[in-house]
Amino acid sequence: MKIFLDTARLDEIQQAVDWGVCDGVTTNPSLHSRAVAHEGDNAIGYRERILRIADIVDGPISAECVTRTTVELIAEARELASWHPSVVVKIPIDGPGLAAIKALSEEGIRINTTLIFSLNQALLAARAGAAYVSPFVGRLDDIGENGIGLVADTVNLLDRFNLPAQVIAASLRNTDHTAEAARVGAHVATIPFPVLEQMQRHPLTDKGIQAFLDDWHKAEAALRAQPVS
Ligand code: G3P
Repeated sequence: MKIFLDTARLDEIQQAVDWGVCDGVTTNPSLHSRAVAHEGDNAIGYRERILRIADIVDGPISAECVTRTTVELIAEARELASWHPSVVVKIPIDGPGLAAIKALSEEGIRINTTLIFSLNQALLAARAGAAYVSPFVGRLDDIGENGIGLVADTVNLLDRFNLPAQVIAASLRNTDHTAEAARVGAHVATIPFPVLEQMQRHPLTDKGIQAFLDDWHKAEAALRAQPVS
């Protein structure tokens, strides 16, 4: 399973790249807005943000459309895709979105279909030509449905019918979500930075490191205490 960062913050992306665990990035208008708020007076616009991310990461970078008709989506997606070869255009699933996905994928523009909440939506997006489909795990869990179940069903569907789209498990909120996404075979998990940090940790690792250090110092002290012969 590949690891994408689900953030628009450059500092978080740089840290994940330094750790060697960032295969790509997904952004959306909400993440951009949060990054702008975090950056304050040094905030940058969406185009500059995507270009700066492309300087940091060697992999797909999802940039999301904010228009609603097919004609507008096609024009906006072409503009986003022209910014950098790494750009994957994010389009929400609906009728106008599907028509745009069909036209754009025929032009060779890669589409990540977002806000997927059902297997039917995933099927339609994949049939229309999307390169990626993004089921939203956390938001389904929020309403008492099984988000990881949809990821598993979507992976199986694409596999069974030999559809080339890849599944990005999105809206992941915790380390159980990331582990489960891997277990059910998601091609990609797009992960918020705090969850990526949490994935590294285990209390037994901390305890084990401390025990190794204590034992090392004990051995060193014993060696130092040996009588000089
Ligand atoms: O990947 C989509 C994600 O950014 C949405 O996450 O937590 O707002 O449902 P969330």
